[in-house]
Amino acid sequence: MTSTDLIIIGSGPGGYRAAGEAARLGLQVTIIERAEAGGTCLNRGCIPTKTWCHEAEVATLLREKGVEKPVDFVPILERKNQVVNQLRQGVETLLASPGITLVKGEGRFTGPHTVAVGDDTFTAPHIIIATGSDAKLIPVPGIDLPHVTTSTELLNIDHVPARLCIVGAGVIGMEFASIFNALGSEVTVVEFLKECLPSLDSEVAKRLRTLLSRRGVDFRMQAGVKEITPEGVVYERKGKTETIAADIVLVATGRKPCIEGLNLEAAGIDYGRGGITVDDEMQTNVEGVYAIGDVNGRIMLAHAATYQGLHVVHRIAGRADGMRLDIVPSAIFTHPEAAGVGMTEDQCKQAGIVYTCKKGHYRANGKALAMEATDGMLKLIADEKGLILGCHVYGAHAADMVQEVSCLMTKGSTVAELADMVHIHPTLGEILAETAQMF
Ligand code: NAI
Repeated sequence: MTSTDLIIIGSGPGGYRAAGEAARLGLQVTIIERAEAGGTCLNRGCIPTKTWCHEAEVATLLREKGVEKPVDFVPILERKNQVVNQLRQGVETLLASPGITLVKGEGRFTGPHTVAVGDDTFTAPHIIIATGSDAKLIPVPGIDLPHVTTSTELLNIDHVPARLCIVGAGVIGMEFASIFNALGSEVTVVEFLKECLPSLDSEVAKRLRTLLSRRGVDFRMQAGVKEITPEGVVYERKGKTETIAADIVLVATGRKPCIEGLNLEAAGIDYGRGGITVDDEMQTNVEGVYAIGDVNGRIMLAHAATYQGLHVVHRIAGRADGMRLDIVPSAIFTHPEAAGVGMTEDQCKQAGIVYTCKKGHYRANGKALAMEATDGMLKLIADEKGLILGCHVYGAHAADMVQEVSCLMTKGSTVAELADMVHIHPTLGEILAETAQMF
């Protein structure tokens, strides 16, 4: 049995960043990984999709400029693979640093503080489970047909599908709708709910859907998929059954935590359908055993996993930090982007909070006009004392705008303080500053 200070299971953005930080602080770390280093985000998620989002943006801008250029998908696929490989090599280098031992294989608990990989057993007073999530499929006939994909398989497709049907208008569904619409596919999205992106501000979500509709994406809302056939997707809407013809069907109906095979019972770790149960410090019911990122089901975002992991490592190393794990911005990288942090208007109303919401528009901003990016809106929400409660943006570089507000919220800032901060001219950030000056 090998003894170490910290065992980490999973080398995604939760696991590998925690390993790097723990080694920096002097801990001996064993990190266990069954597949490629870098996890879903780097190999099958955020990074490859963002290279395609960029290609989609370029294709859209060329079209808007009247340049009709046929899409050559081979270099698009190759560039994505090159970006992923380059970043993966970076993670592999990190995991070969002094203080870190990478063990290839599947980790399985044999006791509260012991993990086996094949015939080898490792023990540590601290263990972090960072095994991520897998696509959740819907139980309908035809789900096993060869033209049905999850985002993982779609990222390895070698051509632009002529007709793509996407089931689910969540984050994955909307990003791929934006990408393949721009690359020339006929895209139809089938969604159970009335509006797309249920986690976003509803006004922002509606604007994004309207824009993609204008670009030609066909949305079938309040529609439940009943069956997938070799020809397409059968769904029911308002009591009527309809069919969409499709060459490829992307199922993007959420993700489920990766718990199978961990043998959590041997360690006595509590879990439910939503993931491994943790407290606000990410600790499970077993002292010294933590679960971070998608596997705890709290916030399924790469950066949430990273910061939860860093916080756990700081706790283990006895080093206080000022992280606010409850303030987590999120973004969707459609073209244009949408992003948000904190409470939405709907959430304020539901919670009975007295709030003020002010809106800024891209169309009045010099940089947005110069960039031909005037389709956009920003909502800033504050409570009675002016404390910033949330910010929600639809438009170019929405993620960067929301990032600034996220930093301010972490420091408990007010809209008056934001209004006093000098912003560079001409930038999109001025929309935020000027919106704060309206309070
Ligand atoms: P999601 O939970 O965001 O959306 C799934 C959608 O599918 C929902 O709108 C739901 O109503 C719909 N749906 C479920 N069953 C259906 C059915 N039978 N028929 C029609 N519609 C149905 O899940 P998604 O998009 O798969 O993403 C998974 C996770 O990955 C999310 O937690 C997301 O935050 C994360 N992610 C984050 C990204 C980012 O931060 N930019 C990018 C991609 C994924």
